[in-house]
Amino acid sequence: MSCYSEFAMYYDELMDDVDYESWFLYIKEIFKRFSVDPKEILEMASGTGSLTYYLCKEGYSVTGFDRSEEMLSIAYNKLLQFKNVHLLKQDMVDFNIGKKFDSILCICDSINYITDELELLQIFKNVYDHLKDNGIFIFDINSYYKLSQIIGNNIFIEDRENIYYVWENYFDKNSKLTQFNLNFFIKASEEGYIRFDEEHIERAYNIKEIEDLLRKSGFNKITIYDAFTFNKPNKNSERINFIVKK
Ligand SMILES: C[S@@+](CC[C@H](N)C(=O)[O-])C[C@H]1O[C@@H](n2cnc3c(N)ncnc32)[C@H](O)[C@@H]1O
Repeated sequence: MSCYSEFAMYYDELMDDVDYESWFLYIKEIFKRFSVDPKEILEMASGTGSLTYYLCKEGYSVTGFDRSEEMLSIAYNKLLQFKNVHLLKQDMVDFNIGKKFDSILCICDSINYITDELELLQIFKNVYDHLKDNGIFIFDINSYYKLSQIIGNNIFIEDRENIYYVWENYFDKNSKLTQFNLNFFIKASEEGYIRFDEEHIERAYNIKEIEDLLRKSGFNKITIYDAFTFNKPNKNSERINFIVKK
């Protein structure tokens, strides 16, 4: 099963511990501290549109894209009330929007889904080309530490009223790939559950690898924080936030 297909319908429910409003406020604070006042924002891998919602509410003109039709369809319904949003089905690897933006965002470890370094380089170059001068690119990754030590080679189980969900993960040191085998059991009636599985793969990158790729793409103003803070990352940081100015 390709990733974010059937899972899309349950994504928001299973992500209810993620506070997207706070995430939005963190990004707004970054805009302030980096003296940018964007009007037009591109959100890559916008998923079900949870951050997009707050960006639209704030009045930014937002273009969001994702490669999963099922995620886009949830986003479409979530954002129906807004006139300042366009949703597109595109792939980060070769997206082309045909215009430049003041800011480009990509949150919630979507970048880790790019498992090939050359593809990531191509994405960063494309981001550079889609940014206006002085534009700002903000994204985060699951840290190497989190993918290899916390998520990798571990099993997580969530037992909710209507969803029973098992998450079996394997980390391979050589390829730096973390494979997530997600097994969902959705309560369909009093008598039984519907089962479906998805396989997701995230690549663990260390900070230096990402920095090198950004520099190769033409970026040289790069700031890195332990996500949701304005502190330098440390060895136990689980999410690393990159702020990159053109
Ligand atoms: C962890 S979800 C994050 C979604 C959203 N950014 C959020 O914060 O909820 C990862 C998203 O990346 C998307 N994605 C993964 N690889 C992609 C690619 N190559 N191009 C576009 N979207 C991609 C998936 O479809 C999914 O919606």
